[in-house]
Amino acid sequence: MESTAKKRVLSGMRPSGKLHLGHLHGVLENWKRLQNEYQCYFFVADWHALTTNYEHSYEIPENIEEMVLDWLAVGIDPGKATIFVQSDVMEHAELSLLLSMITPVSWLERNPTYKEQQQQLREKDLATYGFLGYPVLQAADIIMYKAHKVPVGVDQLPHVELTREITRRFNYLYRDVFPVPDPLLAEVPKLPGLDGRKMSKSYGNSIFLSDTPDEVRKKISTMVTDVERPRKSDPGDPENRCIAYNLHRLYLPEERLEEIVAECRAAALGCVACKKELAEAVISFLDPVWKRRDQLSADPGRIGHILQQGADRARDVARATMEQVRSAVWTRSARSE
Ligand code: TRP
Repeated sequence: MESTAKKRVLSGMRPSGKLHLGHLHGVLENWKRLQNEYQCYFFVADWHALTTNYEHSYEIPENIEEMVLDWLAVGIDPGKATIFVQSDVMEHAELSLLLSMITPVSWLERNPTYKEQQQQLREKDLATYGFLGYPVLQAADIIMYKAHKVPVGVDQLPHVELTREITRRFNYLYRDVFPVPDPLLAEVPKLPGLDGRKMSKSYGNSIFLSDTPDEVRKKISTMVTDVERPRKSDPGDPENRCIAYNLHRLYLPEERLEEIVAECRAAALGCVACKKELAEAVISFLDPVWKRRDQLSADPGRIGHILQQGADRARDVARATMEQVRSAVWTRSARSE
């Protein structure tokens, strides 16, 4: 059968609430491609969110709904991929516990994101056991589904590397239960936020998938363009100096893009008009996303239902894996001699 022969992909996102264009081009477009080629598991890492947000745990359920709505609106398809919430599949906790027994603390302390995040999120006390163990839980998420490929951003590479080490150690100590997964780095188009820094919710420089057309217009009108072109009569250099141009590149048709570059260089097209055109292009791009979002929102039980079905499917796989895991851990094998 075709589906059983397909390789498996697993990826997850912490529930950060509403998503922006950066998530769409950086992650979700990639997931959309993968769901056609692989057997995909996409899940919401709500326990991972708890490692840094345990004081505001009550915010997490709302953020899950919001985020999954965005996933579906952009075209992540529950008919193709299994979409679920981590904490709905308790087996992740059991596997994480078992993996924690064989993971040296030194591996976790060496993890670059551990110290980095502790420094960046100084207002939070992250000297917890759960935060240190973050990559162990992530390893459990991945190998539970015997994933071959894990699409992630560069920031997550150390975690996938740790997963590989923990997997090898499990296979060595007990039995060859798990394939060693490979990270899958996607090519990500450059998408700066409104102020030129990386688009990020915490910078307040994002265009959200849930923004209205007027919000998009307003936000884009504030975008930084070419700082060396204060007046329309100054010739611009869009390719090298204009921040907004990175968006033009994504949303305008090739021919129009060439015209714009020429007009900007000739000081014929002003930034205000140029950004208006960009805003309309972004709006047409987002229009189908908004339509799907509205349809889904009009049906309040829909997301819950999809997540429940996803959890049921994920749990079937997780249960089967855990039977093998328990048998490998608790029974004597050739390896233990
Ligand atoms: N740590 C990932 C992030 O912050 C989320 C995550 C949890 C994940 N488990 C995963 C990603 C397993 C890929 C595979 O983005």
